[in-house]
Amino acid sequence: MTPNKTADQAAQRAAALRAQLEDANYRYYVLDDPTLADADYDRLLRELEALEAAHPELASVDSPTQRVGSSPSGQFDEVRHAVPMLSLGNAFSDEEVADFVRKIVERLDVEAPEFSVEPKLDGLAISLRYEGGHFVQGATRGDGATGEDVTANLRTVKAIPMKLRGEGWPPVLEVRGEVYMPLAAFKAYNEKALRDGGKVLANPRNGAAGSLRQLDPRITAQRPLAFYAYAVGVVEGYELPPSHSATLQQLREWGFPVSAESGVVAGTEGLLGYYRQMGAKRDALPFDIDGVVYKLDDYAGQREMGFVSRAPRWAIAHKFPAQEQSTVLEGIDIQIGRTGAATPVARLRPVQVAGVVVTNATLHNADQIARLDVRIGDTVIVRRAGDVIPEIVRVVPEYRDPHAPEWRMPEVCPVCGSEIVREEDGVVWRCSGELTCAAQRKEAIRHFASRRAMDIEGLGDRYIEDLSDLGYLQSVADLYKLELADLLEMKRRADERDGTTPETVKAGKVATKWADNLLEAIDHSRNTTLERFLFALGIQHVGESTAKALALWFGELELVRRLPWPLFKRVPDIGGEVARSLGHFFDQPGNQQVIDDLLQREVKIGDAHPPTPKLREGLNLATLLVDMEIPKVTKIRADQLATAFGDAHKLLDAPEHAYITAGLPADSAQALASWLSVDENAQLLTRVGEALAQLDALTPAASATASGPLDGQTAVLTGTLTALTRDEAKVRLEALGAKVAGSVSKKTAFVVAGEAAGSKLDKAQELGVEVWDEARLLAFLAENE
Ligand code: IVH
Repeated sequence: MTPNKTADQAAQRAAALRAQLEDANYRYYVLDDPTLADADYDRLLRELEALEAAHPELASVDSPTQRVGSSPSGQFDEVRHAVPMLSLGNAFSDEEVADFVRKIVERLDVEAPEFSVEPKLDGLAISLRYEGGHFVQGATRGDGATGEDVTANLRTVKAIPMKLRGEGWPPVLEVRGEVYMPLAAFKAYNEKALRDGGKVLANPRNGAAGSLRQLDPRITAQRPLAFYAYAVGVVEGYELPPSHSATLQQLREWGFPVSAESGVVAGTEGLLGYYRQMGAKRDALPFDIDGVVYKLDDYAGQREMGFVSRAPRWAIAHKFPAQEQSTVLEGIDIQIGRTGAATPVARLRPVQVAGVVVTNATLHNADQIARLDVRIGDTVIVRRAGDVIPEIVRVVPEYRDPHAPEWRMPEVCPVCGSEIVREEDGVVWRCSGELTCAAQRKEAIRHFASRRAMDIEGLGDRYIEDLSDLGYLQSVADLYKLELADLLEMKRRADERDGTTPETVKAGKVATKWADNLLEAIDHSRNTTLERFLFALGIQHVGESTAKALALWFGELELVRRLPWPLFKRVPDIGGEVARSLGHFFDQPGNQQVIDDLLQREVKIGDAHPPTPKLREGLNLATLLVDMEIPKVTKIRADQLATAFGDAHKLLDAPEHAYITAGLPADSAQALASWLSVDENAQLLTRVGEALAQLDALTPAASATASGPLDGQTAVLTGTLTALTRDEAKVRLEALGAKVAGSVSKKTAFVVAGEAAGSKLDKAQELGVEVWDEARLLAFLAENE
């Protein structure tokens, strides 16, 4: 719809859009059951924005379009809380909880009072005022009596309803609750801050508090804050249900998020059971909680219990062990990853954090250390939340030894002694030792054996350590040399080294069993695919999808391992950086040796096939000259050179003035000459020329000149194949001369129908086109490849 309509139509459409968007928010934040896709939400929101822009009379502060934040204010006004915002007393032990319950039992003379139990989220307490069902004002808790007016910021928090749902709500209603930052949002925020060199948030609580206190609501709008309601303040002209739990249910119906973890239990037993249950769940929750809250459920009982100073006698917070602790930074170790990245890791004086002893914390990178300005010997605050790796959040400057020097990245690798060099991006430091570095070797073996690579089950970290340290594994290829005697000897030496007691006969049998299993798993991994093999080599920048693309395009290890790097750029999605990384890897004699050893020790790649015919499309001297990234040799210049010289050898032999004759301007000619005067570059061009000739001969020609069995035929693939993917099937059919199309027509030669094939199969049957099942396809491929 366009915004070009009558005022009446526009108003109607705007109302419909608002209702739809509000409903989507409600489903997402309150019911936790989203029905609208993000893209659809955005589309509806944009339509509403356009309508409001074209019809300014439709604008309203509680429109979903206003969630992006209004313009900044100079300062926050004060808000007095008519009903004070109280705090809670704390309990840290079971006895304190029992005490709390005992006082209620005695005063109210009930046996096992019922409590509403809720998680205690670590965020910022706020109060929201609704008049006639519309959000009119939001305030922070402040000192409990007076807070700050943060209405504009709260309007950007999508979990807070701007209009109440349903009907029959009180004419005036204050709802209280917690604004918090979910852990995923907190992590994402900090990762981005680290990348951009910005300030990291110390914890999600600071994230929530800092975001709400922004003077510019547009900044708040970009912080993914959430909210849940846990109490009411002023209520006018309405009688609330008689209990807290029923009130929460009512709030939920009016459109407020209420924690799904809340419930009702009876007596001390019930409370402690809930505490344990939430404690066990704590690490898996998508937000930080620092405890649970118990509230006497019955309002009449609450009134009777009353208050002591600023806290109710009918409620208490039962705290979990703190997630932050202070300890001493005893040292900074350097961990070397698979590709040599050197990551500083804090070695800490052991400290209990949230129930777990922490001895190490991540420091991310050297920049992070500089930003925190941590020095060895410092007293630091360590934080552990959820499954997140413990982190150092800040230094306690008061305890610093004034002579402590700044920390610097060591110049050499602590494992192999090679130089540590800083990458161009300035953030990553790398050990230059590659596979001569034991640390990188171990990581390389771990990666090689991992499930998505060679999938050697049972080769755990411990065995990798011991086998490497005791000299049984110099490279991944040595895995295929291991014998039962080696493994048993390794185990015996490791036990000796660790002072483990000698094995009994029975334990000896167990030891043999693991060794047998491991050898069998290693043997099993010998039969692999090119994709897994290439991924397993652990080449920098070569993940699973790049490995898969290489396998599909080139088909054969023998080809891939000999190609000069510019050829890799022929594969879509492979750019200069990845191509160079591949070239660099295969240029190392040590790496080639490892590949030779693997093949010699009978690692078999079962799915070799010719390069895809598509390769031929871009395979000529001109494109490769561009791929080589020669300064000033653009596409036009490369075409001129290719036309004039025809092949790489002639180009190499030509004097500089011949480039001019070919049509190159003087500066390009000069740039090319000086590039080629570097030996390495001249060699690269020679290799590229050779590879071009070799691939020309190897690549099944594209359809026009093809002579494959499927030459000139069009195939269509549909449904799910089980033995191979559609991509693989496509490449292999193309290799035999077929064209693979996306839709069925009378010209289609045959349709390959996998499981659950749908309309394309119907169409084929309707047109009388031949249909192959997967078995027939496989038989055909086996016969013709
Ligand atoms: S009830 C009269 N319920 O904890 C009771 N508070 O120490 C008032 N908090 O300022 C608070 N989750 O920021 C209550 N489910 C919950 C809570 C909760 C977190 C915070 C709130 C409050 C502080 C009290």
